[in-house]
Amino acid sequence: MQTDGRACLLEEPGAPATVRDVVIDPPGSNEVLVKLKASGVCHTDLTVKNLNGNGMPFPIVLGHEGAGIVEAVGDGVTHLSPGDPVVIAYRAPCDQCPACLRGDPRHCYMALRPKPRIHRKSDGALCSQVLRCGTFSTHTVVHAKAAIKMPAEMPLDKACLIACGVITGVGATMNTTTVFPGARVAVIGCGGVGLSVIQGAKLQHARQIIAVDVNPVKLEWARKFGATHVVNAKDTDPVAEVRRLTDDGWDGGVEFAYEATGIPACTEQAVKMLSYGGTATTIGFPAQTDSVNLNLGDMATGVYWNKAGLAVCHCGDALPSQDFPLMAQLYLSGDLELDGMVTRTITLDDVEDAFHEMETGNVIRSVILM
Ligand SMILES: NC(=O)c1ccc[n+]([C@@H]2O[C@H](COP(=O)([O-])OP(=O)(O)OC[C@H]3O[C@@H](n4cnc5c(N)ncnc54)[C@H](O)[C@@H]3O)[C@@H](O)[C@H]2O)c1
Ligand SMILES: [Zn+2]
Ligand SMILES: [Zn+2]
Repeated sequence: MQTDGRACLLEEPGAPATVRDVVIDPPGSNEVLVKLKASGVCHTDLTVKNLNGNGMPFPIVLGHEGAGIVEAVGDGVTHLSPGDPVVIAYRAPCDQCPACLRGDPRHCYMALRPKPRIHRKSDGALCSQVLRCGTFSTHTVVHAKAAIKMPAEMPLDKACLIACGVITGVGATMNTTTVFPGARVAVIGCGGVGLSVIQGAKLQHARQIIAVDVNPVKLEWARKFGATHVVNAKDTDPVAEVRRLTDDGWDGGVEFAYEATGIPACTEQAVKMLSYGGTATTIGFPAQTDSVNLNLGDMATGVYWNKAGLAVCHCGDALPSQDFPLMAQLYLSGDLELDGMVTRTITLDDVEDAFHEMETGNVIRSVILM
């Protein structure tokens, strides 16, 4: 039996996100139907809109940072039951790609691809789901392995943030480029992802955590989330300032620099602020034509002489079945701050407003309550 619901759709290039009636097919084998309770609004949803769907067929159900309750399970699903609270993972390992086959699911090439099951009610059109999730919706259907069970005491309006922003940022410091105790860390961009990098660096016992942003309110928040120093890149050259703050008689620089803006020039800055042998990690979502220019031969900051590394973080290189429950445990033990990341709660009808706030205002995460 199909389920009636409502979802926030992108219906055509350039059109605003609009709430429409939808019908959701029942879950197929190894799938679950989830009744969503909350979804965070990540910058990637706005990017998908700004890039006119980024190659996905229209209509598109937005949203990929969701938590809810399992409403029905398909054939073959034994580890979940109706009533279970879950967070939806967009990178559950596929078990088929070369990385999965060699036993390295954190580096899965593509993640599980469930069948799309949400239809626009007016004409029956089958909707794409952003990052295979589609959480700006009252309901969605995902692969059972992508629905990660949460402890009963975990509030779902906070748990949803784990699905993308939090696991991306914290996972970048734990999995992608593992921060060692005593390391110096710089974080460029202090939105939901960057503040999570800061929290991760603190959990990993970094000695110095230098937050860079162009918005003074974000920098104030960065301090609350664990930054030891802040740099306003509007007033100061962030590369020179990070080197000054880390001066050790060896030209300073950080062992780890994370870019969390989606701006190519910030990846270049991250590489230039490294100490000898350090690694920059790019997290922001690029447009197809984005590129960076890296100098090799400069004696102080060139990639060759400074032996700089560049890594890429996809969803914190997470293994959701292991890492999502860990994030919940860290929240419940008071070691991971999620309450302060929800700066606004909204309804499905307010997505465009949340996008506007993200571009112009002082918001960490808007969370849609269904
Ligand atoms: N790789 C992944 O798996 C992954 C996961 C989630 C998000 N993302 C991407 O990460 C990026 C950050 O996402 P978010 O949700 O935190 O976005 P956000 O909009 O909440 O935060 C971006 C921050 O960058 C700051 N900023 C803008 N220009 C800057 C500059 N020149 N220098 C320093 N800071 C600057 C903004 O003030 C803001 O605080 C986006 O590109 C998003 O698409 C990637
Ligand atoms: Zn795989
Ligand atoms: Zn995201």
